[in-house]
Amino acid sequence: MVKSIGSSEIETAVFISGNGSNLKNLISFSLSKKNPLKIRYIVSSNSNAKGLSFAKKFKIKKKVYSFKNKKVSENQILYDLKKNRIKFICLAGFMKILSKNFINKFNGKIVNIHPSLLPKYKGLDTHRRAIFNKEKYSGCTVHFVSSKLDSGKILLQKKVRISKNDTPRSLAKKILKQEHIIYPRALKKIFASL
Ligand code: GRF
Repeated sequence: MVKSIGSSEIETAVFISGNGSNLKNLISFSLSKKNPLKIRYIVSSNSNAKGLSFAKKFKIKKKVYSFKNKKVSENQILYDLKKNRIKFICLAGFMKILSKNFINKFNGKIVNIHPSLLPKYKGLDTHRRAIFNKEKYSGCTVHFVSSKLDSGKILLQKKVRISKNDTPRSLAKKILKQEHIIYPRALKKIFASL
């Protein structure tokens, strides 16, 4: 599927809802030498998302979509992505669940990072649940997005040890550090196969 992107530059949109540390990290990665990833568009479901500041800093087009009506917002996004010739999407802390219809339009060209060792702990509140269940490890996963939540093909994972005094917050911090390492690695893996 990804093969159909077929270009030396992969025009990409990053979807965010919050802090945008993964967005920032992907921007840095895209600016590294000989990188086909070009981040041209930022979609946010939240007008207060801190991550939007990186759009300004790095002069990347951005737009906030309210998602009050999911179908309307998704259609607007699809229209804008087409207008901006976007071929690939990275979800990075995006808190909305995209519809089957949307995903089918970008089939095999959407990736996501999830803060757990999938298939464990799909959905929200992963760190609290992993600690509550006395897991020894949690971690993060980069995967293709399919129409079933957090269930697409796994590209890369990184294990993180949960220590006795970890809180959801401290664990999130440890895992986020690893997210910043594996997201670019997973993208390299995709691009190497093009
Ligand atoms: C990350 O832990 C990501 O895996 C999860 O939400 C968090 C977003 O962090 N889905 P940031 O906005 O990239 O800093």
